[in-house]
Amino acid sequence: MTTPVNVTVTGAAGQIGYALLFRIASGAMLGPDTPVRLRLLEIPQAVKAAEGTAMELDDCAFPLLDGVDIHDDPARGFEGTNVALLVGARPRGPGMERADLLEANGGIFGPQGRAINDHAADDVRVLVVGNPANTNALIAASHAPDVGKDRFTAMTRLDHNRALSQAAARAGVPVSQVKRLTIWGNHSASQYPDLFHAEVGGRPGAALAVDRAWLTEDFVPTVAKRGAAIIDARGASSAASAANAAIDHVRDWVLGTPEGDWTSAGLWSTGAYGVPEGLVSSFPVTSSGGAWDVVDGLEVDDFSRARIDASVAELVEEREAVRALGLI
Ligand code: NAI
Repeated sequence: MTTPVNVTVTGAAGQIGYALLFRIASGAMLGPDTPVRLRLLEIPQAVKAAEGTAMELDDCAFPLLDGVDIHDDPARGFEGTNVALLVGARPRGPGMERADLLEANGGIFGPQGRAINDHAADDVRVLVVGNPANTNALIAASHAPDVGKDRFTAMTRLDHNRALSQAAARAGVPVSQVKRLTIWGNHSASQYPDLFHAEVGGRPGAALAVDRAWLTEDFVPTVAKRGAAIIDARGASSAASAANAAIDHVRDWVLGTPEGDWTSAGLWSTGAYGVPEGLVSSFPVTSSGGAWDVVDGLEVDDFSRARIDASVAELVEEREAVRALGLI
């Protein structure tokens, strides 16, 4: 049997964890030939709930699941990890200011970054899901000086998938006929879903974007505010769709993106498209050979430029805030 891949999931007892673990164990993330060993990392109060989830994983008798370990110590939780999904985060409580939120999460993602640095496998790949995802990824990466910055990513795939679905519905075509869409910037309401380089039902996405009222008053805000709409309708935040997006992100990272298409991911910027170096920002990306590449050479018009700049400005502010708090 092939050596199992070690996959660590933090926040494993939470709602995304519950939607994620069974799909990882079924082979949806790393393919039908790759056994996995799961490491669930939780806070001590949630270990018992994680044990319950582990019992259910046993009860599925997944042929690819080599075992499940549960930890509340990041050093043990990231031991030998090849894929780390950082889902557990501190949610914004009532009356909590943004600085408090960043500080609370810095207290989680700094030590986890350090533990990944010291204990994970050499080929570790990290996906940060817990919000604020881009800045949490920045914090984790900053605490892992021995790990390549290209190994730390933030999830904007849910935004990407939401945009695919909205564009398909507008054009009246199956979602499989929407390609080369891009989410730029931050995983927040400032993100910019870009249709201008997309292909929708065999036609240029720009043909849909011609209707500027629909683009600016419907498409962009519907995608950007979809998380709030789900909370409003469901009484809880997106979980299954978030887990699905995490599966899509890691699968494409490891196994590659399809020919002729691209996806979106938050990557450590090396300056592409004018995004300042060292911010974790969403870009159009392809993957092959287990590494992401930013799609280059796209023309960005003034309409898109203004929106990308606004979201990137928010990332700059978040970076300044965590710097001021001594978190990076
Ligand atoms: P949840 O509250 O159901 O679960 C969070 C879990 O994390 C809890 O079990 C908690 O005990 C655990 N946790 C807290 N601190 C931890 C630590 N230091 N180490 C390990 N585990 C820890 O939350 P849910 O719904 O599962 O969401 C998780 C995160 O994902 C939230 O920050 C949410 O905002 C974010 N999210 C991100 C999305 C994206 O597109 N990037 C989409 C949807 C949610």
